[in-house]
Amino acid sequence: MNKERKLIVAGNWKMNKTVVEALQLVRDLKPGVANINDADIVVCPPFTALSEVAKAIRGSRIQLGAQNMSEHEAGAYTGEIAAEMLRELEVRYVILGHSERRQYQKESDELILQKAQTAHAAGLQPIVCVGEALAEREAGHTEKVLEGQVRGSLMGLSKEQMRQTVVAYEPVWAIGTGKTATTSQAQESHAFIRGLLAKLFDATIARLVRIQYGGSVKPSNARELMSQPDVDGALVGGASLEAQSFTEIIQNSI
Ligand code: PGA
Repeated sequence: MNKERKLIVAGNWKMNKTVVEALQLVRDLKPGVANINDADIVVCPPFTALSEVAKAIRGSRIQLGAQNMSEHEAGAYTGEIAAEMLRELEVRYVILGHSERRQYQKESDELILQKAQTAHAAGLQPIVCVGEALAEREAGHTEKVLEGQVRGSLMGLSKEQMRQTVVAYEPVWAIGTGKTATTSQAQESHAFIRGLLAKLFDATIARLVRIQYGGSVKPSNARELMSQPDVDGALVGGASLEAQSFTEIIQNSI
């Protein structure tokens, strides 16, 4: 697939994989992705496995991401992890504002924006997640919800920071449910988000920013989703937990 924007396929392992299991997974992944140059391939293990996975993927095509971080740089925040600590472990990307965190940890757009600014200050590239719930889609509020999230969690970044940010469109009703957005639903939302970026930042930024789709991405639907003009990659949950399915998703995406 020949796109202006480099594809980015990231595996969000969520709260899965011990260190031993994580190392096995990346060992199994490496051969299948060794010759893939047309996509950024990222794995996002839990914090506890980052250090060992970082060592295991050195010199490979696989890059490292984290699933969350603190909005603060350092200090008395028991249980939190700072951006700088992630950088030290060779982490390049950090998922922010995943719908599970918005829901269970009550993360707000404002907090996600702060985290994104902190991530950039430390040289991490945030993957900022947005997406509507089923009731919101059914009520015809998808665009309103996306606009609120995009404005709230991205407006406040500098143009340069926005250029280095990845957006993940993840309709909440498609996450872990086996229900994927149709290609036209995905394309419509991606185009809407890109249009907003043009309005809130500028046309060049809108053209350059990568927008991933997430929500029940599988080897069988990756090709069709990635064929859409505004879909620049995938954020994969369940299917990234096994080397074979994640490798097939990557291979089918390029
Ligand atoms: P899923 O999760 O692929 O299991 O639907 C995607 C995500 O939550 O990032």
